Amino acid sequence: MDGLDDLKATYLTAVATVQDEAALEELRVSALGKKGEISALMAGLDKMEPDQRKAAGAMLNVLKDEIDAALRAKKAGLSDAALDARLREEWLDVTLPGRPRPRGTIHPVSQVMEELTAIFADMGFAVAEGPQVESDWYNFDALNIPPEHPARQEHDTFFMHRDAGDARPPHVLRTHTSPVQIRAMTEQGAPIRVIAPGRVYRMDMDQTHTPMFHQVEGLAIDRDISMANLKWTLEEFCRAFFEVDKVELRFRASHFPFTEPSAEVDIRYSNVGGQLRIGEGDKWMEILGSGMVHPKVLAAAGVNPDEWQGFAFGMGIDRIAMLKYGIPDLRAFFESDLRWLRHYGFSAIDMPDLAGGLSS
Ligand code: PHE
Repeated sequence: MDGLDDLKATYLTAVATVQDEAALEELRVSALGKKGEISALMAGLDKMEPDQRKAAGAMLNVLKDEIDAALRAKKAGLSDAALDARLREEWLDVTLPGRPRPRGTIHPVSQVMEELTAIFADMGFAVAEGPQVESDWYNFDALNIPPEHPARQEHDTFFMHRDAGDARPPHVLRTHTSPVQIRAMTEQGAPIRVIAPGRVYRMDMDQTHTPMFHQVEGLAIDRDISMANLKWTLEEFCRAFFEVDKVELRFRASHFPFTEPSAEVDIRYSNVGGQLRIGEGDKWMEILGSGMVHPKVLAAAGVNPDEWQGFAFGMGIDRIAMLKYGIPDLRAFFESDLRWLRHYGFSAIDMPDLAGGLSS
């Protein structure tokens, strides 16, 4: 049989130079496939004389094995190379941090709201809400502040616009969170235990007052709740919130139309070079107003004052945030200065809870 050496050389060179698995497969088909060159030669053996056929058949078998071996070796090489290339391409640095730190921060007021909600929730208080644009009935009348009452002036109220000729009293931006007491009792009746954190508004502006600020209302109504329960609740809250054992509160007799008796509560702190510290020093900061809910307020909310009684308080959230995190000027809370937010802000990933530590 002539030309077998040439055929062998052609195929072996082609196999050696082929670049990918698809081209290699084409080569295999054209050599060893059913209609391939070697197969055609094998088919030709039939027409040969027996002697010739034997010799040619042996040579063709050797050639076929050689080409087949070359194809297989090349195929293995090509698939190793393909795997290497894929591994290089899909390489991943598993030592990189899993998730980039979020760049925004949680405002101290939001953080403090989460913290106090966690503490009061642990004491069995649910969260209640009410609108910031409130009717004067909820903001004043229902809280035993009739139209001619001097307390209305003291509240430095923002009034909403009414069209000329509309005789109805204007809505107000709520001056405190106390209207939520009325809404919550009207909806749920007694017994009830709620807190209502939120924004309130008064025309006032200096180092410790801003026209918008935050309060949290507390309300606990049951059959025999007393001032002693109020005192315990507030002291427990302050210990948990400020995360110190030593917190000193001062209850001062006071007056609010919606509580009787009433008390304002101050907390002891020091201010050394602009650094505020809680539980030490000779300064007192007023943080809340409180008292036993007035029978007229219970009645206005549909709760029978002969059957039910309880306490309420309204605490300044911004004030307790200043004290806890040593922030000397209230106005900075609302200036949206990014440098201030980066310094005093909290990570969005660490939500406060009592088990994990409130502000860690
Ligand atoms: N609403 C009062 C204020 O804003 C605080 C307060 C709430 C007082 C509840 C007594 C009871 O000053």
